[in-house]
Amino acid sequence: MADMRVNLAGVELKNPVTVASGTFGFGREYSEFFDISKLGGISVKGLTPLPRQGNPAPRIAETPMGMLNSVGLQNPGVDAFIAHELPWLKAQGTVIIANISGSTPEEYGEMCEKLSAAGVDMIEVNISCPNVKAGGLAYGTRPELAAEVTTVAKAHAAVPVMVKLSPNVTDITEITKAVEGAGADAISLINTLRGMVIDVKTRRPILKMNTGGLSGPAVLPIAVRMVWEVHNAVKLPILGMGGVSSGSDAAQLMLAGAAAVAVGAATFADPMAPIRVLEELGELCDSQGLSSVTQLTGAVQPW
Ligand SMILES: Cc1cc2nc3c(=O)[nH]c(=O)nc-3n(C[C@H](O)[C@H](O)[C@H](O)COP(=O)(O)O)c2cc1C
Repeated sequence: MADMRVNLAGVELKNPVTVASGTFGFGREYSEFFDISKLGGISVKGLTPLPRQGNPAPRIAETPMGMLNSVGLQNPGVDAFIAHELPWLKAQGTVIIANISGSTPEEYGEMCEKLSAAGVDMIEVNISCPNVKAGGLAYGTRPELAAEVTTVAKAHAAVPVMVKLSPNVTDITEITKAVEGAGADAISLINTLRGMVIDVKTRRPILKMNTGGLSGPAVLPIAVRMVWEVHNAVKLPILGMGGVSSGSDAAQLMLAGAAAVAVGAATFADPMAPIRVLEELGELCDSQGLSSVTQLTGAVQPW
């Protein structure tokens, strides 16, 4: 049996399969389906300094091989998370990654300080949400702003900082290098791609926000390509995500350069998806005679 342990920026994961922010809530609902301690880690729903209602409905639309969402960071706020969700999560026996979004660099700093003190294992700095007006994507598409947020987050965090990048850019390596230069410990990608679906009868967009973020199997090849580009551009460890719904999808992201992966939209169709992905990935490693799953990372042999 292959050793499934991986290391992400100094944080030991029991296996490389985590769950993506915003698709697993704070874990409680899924703990009714499976033992969530089996996961390599949980990235929680994006947190903001104050509670947010999110965007008006409809905010989910089905697409061919995927989905569009404009949830808009609905969450109870960082303080309520620390008081009511984190104690339970910390008792689950898996790595807890706090995903944060702010409207200013200072808001990111403030949340990093609170969450580090509260004992999360890692902080995922979301500079790539396409569904909010302030902050979010504005930081993730401009290298100098991405670097500024990273610098402030690092100055206030006592745990590793992973920066979550947007695929909605022309050159992903430009942003990645800026974030590496500002001291990030790891990179996660991809967040959702901006998209739009129109009801041809009413001639109105399905989503109340008009546009939203595309995720699911349709985006896997884009995620694989971007992880590969980032892996070739910087030395930072990568948490790869985007369209993973099988062990071989996860293996593709790892071969492209990811140290670990996250399962997102696939859990909406099948709540057991993360566990199935983990089992299939283990079988794939065994069938290829690998002693460690880490042997997959970056092992693609480009033409
Ligand atoms: C409904 C929904 C909510 C999401 N919320 C967040 C969020 O709060 N923070 C974040 O960084 N990413 C969020 N994401 C993006 C996912 O974490 C992930 O990066 C993206 O969906 C690609 O993975 P997938 O194709 O496996 O879903 C959300 C995605 C979906 C579908």
